[in-house]
Amino acid sequence: MKKALITGITGQDGSYLSELLLSEGYDVYGVIRRASTINTSRIDDIFAPDDKKHIMFGDLADGIDDILYSIQPDEVYNMASMSHVKVSFEIPVYTADITGIGALRILEGIRKLNLKHTKFYQASSSEMFGITPPPQNENSPFNPVSPYGCAKLLAYHATRTYRLGYNIFASNGILFNHESERRGMTFVTRKITRGACRIKLGLQDKLTLGNLDALRDWGHSRDYMKAVHLILQHDKPDDFVVATGIYHTVKEFVSAVFAYLDMDWKEFILSDDKYKRPNEVPALQGDATKIRNTLKWKPEIDFKMLVKLMVDHDLEEAKKEALIKEMKG
Ligand code: NAP
Ligand code: GDD
Repeated sequence: MKKALITGITGQDGSYLSELLLSEGYDVYGVIRRASTINTSRIDDIFAPDDKKHIMFGDLADGIDDILYSIQPDEVYNMASMSHVKVSFEIPVYTADITGIGALRILEGIRKLNLKHTKFYQASSSEMFGITPPPQNENSPFNPVSPYGCAKLLAYHATRTYRLGYNIFASNGILFNHESERRGMTFVTRKITRGACRIKLGLQDKLTLGNLDALRDWGHSRDYMKAVHLILQHDKPDDFVVATGIYHTVKEFVSAVFAYLDMDWKEFILSDDKYKRPNEVPALQGDATKIRNTLKWKPEIDFKMLVKLMVDHDLEEAKKEALIKEMKG
């Protein structure tokens, strides 16, 4: 049985990837960080709360050498990161340490421990393209304009460097934005679906956003984790863009969500500069020809279905919230 180790297992992608690898017959291990509140809600249905064998405490600030040594995994998926672009402007040095050097710490661990059979996946990001005009593919220049994008670029190059220099099977997936019912609530899509559903049920009046003109290529995390797994099953380590190839403005996402709920978005949306970044990334649209042709991957969930899945989920959540509010009087 193959052993997989996932950092960031409590996040959106980590949870979908765990489900996928377990369904493929893997023995799945995960690294979680200690928090004063419970941070395992996304994986509570996947791992028992007392499963200390598979779920271990660790932090990318510290490195995970002991965990690597004890598990000796066949595949390491580095999904952990300080993943919020706007927040990276507020904590840039921390972001560089976790999102950038954190990946390097794992690669160094694999090298020093001489884990020759261990494959490494790095969760690289389209944010590395920054202000490079779309469409972006594996040959497009990187022009990051956020501390997060800069940190991800360090991790991307570290992954290539360890592949070339030490013959480690180390690959980058350069993933464009992917969302889901499990998306963190401060990312724009989830903020919109959750806010619109709460408005629909009278739990809030307005929704305040930042830049409505930004263009993003949005897919579903479940589809993208299939690509992530395929990247490590390829016959050689390599780098792949993962994207739908179709982009929409934030305004179009808002409009689709409110239309699905039979509401006119113009009555409810406010704009505030506090949600804008010092530098904006205006347009991300991926050209995923390489992974489509080489690994035969393609996304199954389109924009309309993504909106439906997220709104249906958040409407149920809002109904529960409304019921609790009513019971409390
Ligand atoms: P996410 O939901 O924010 O999950 C991030 C994970 O990293 C969480 O499990 C988090 O733990 C963990 N983490 C944060 N700081 C850590 C630290 N110091 N040590 C150990 N773990 C730490 O992000 P996601 O959307 O699943 O994305 C997964 C990865 O793909 C990230 O690296 C992200 O940057 C990258 N990526 C995402 C997208 C996207 O559109 N979603 C696109 C391209 C690349 P807690 O649960 O305790 O916070
Ligand atoms: N978060 C947020 N909140 N974004 C807003 C808002 C708002 O109120 N209003 C407008 N936006 C705009 C942002 O300025 C950005 O242009 C776009 O919506 C998407 O923002 P996010 O959902 O925060 O995602 P992101 O593109 O900055 O970063 C995500 O995608 C990257 C891949 O391109 C994250 O998941 C990163 O971790 C990931 O690497």
